[in-house]
Amino acid sequence: MSPNSILYEGKAKILYATDDPAVLLTHFKDDATAFNAQKRGSIAGKGEMNCAISSHLFQLLETKGIATHWLGCPAPNQMTVRSVKILPLEVVIRNIAAGSLCQQTGLPLGQVLKEPLVEFYYKNDALGDPLLTLDRLLLLELATSAQVEELRQKALQINQILSDFFGKCGITLVDFKLEFGLDQQQSILLADEISPDTCRLWNQSSADPEQRVLDKDRFRRDLGNVEDAYRQVLERVLAQPIQPEGEAML
Ligand code: TMP
Repeated sequence: MSPNSILYEGKAKILYATDDPAVLLTHFKDDATAFNAQKRGSIAGKGEMNCAISSHLFQLLETKGIATHWLGCPAPNQMTVRSVKILPLEVVIRNIAAGSLCQQTGLPLGQVLKEPLVEFYYKNDALGDPLLTLDRLLLLELATSAQVEELRQKALQINQILSDFFGKCGITLVDFKLEFGLDQQQSILLADEISPDTCRLWNQSSADPEQRVLDKDRFRRDLGNVEDAYRQVLERVLAQPIQPEGEAML
């Protein structure tokens, strides 16, 4: 699958067309940005690590009946994906209060939420990806109300699967961001990536609020050892085999 023209260059990935119009190629970069690209840097090996982590998690989700855009990994930092029309929404699921939820509500960092919280943000860099109300989302026609309900259900299902999986890795899934797209049949597919760039992941074997951080917050907050944290997530994720549904444990 040879890459052709660049279709889109984002902050962490480049999207290429391929010879097959139904298939795109994603190149994962080592570049890192935070705070709407006001902070810029590079995390050595991030592209390959995020590609491998995302691929493993997409395959896990597929075995659990979640349709994703994932097709394959032709190279360590490259992923082939189904061509979808990305919905301009960032779907954030939170299990524990952190980040902007604490800043905007005053909830203390680390408070376990009674129920997972699903939030929709407008994927629009010029506007700074603002938090949406349902009425604003519908006003802007970013999705239909049926699609919003489907996204919410899928987000909660994915949260359950990933929380269980990361739990087996000794990692707490604090919160994470998902993006979805529509295929030719208008079916909703999980897209983008799931990686330490897009999740808050806390090491269960550390209670220290800085040491436990295994995600991009190490970069955002200048906590150091960013590559080591990503590497730990990679190793722990890849060490958990994907069990095809219905297949008995040997
Ligand atoms: P937040 O607490 O800053 O709103 O972030 C919530 C989750 O979303 C966190 O796991 C990090 C992820 N995220 C992204 O993937 N991209 C972004 O641009 C932002 C702001 C957050």
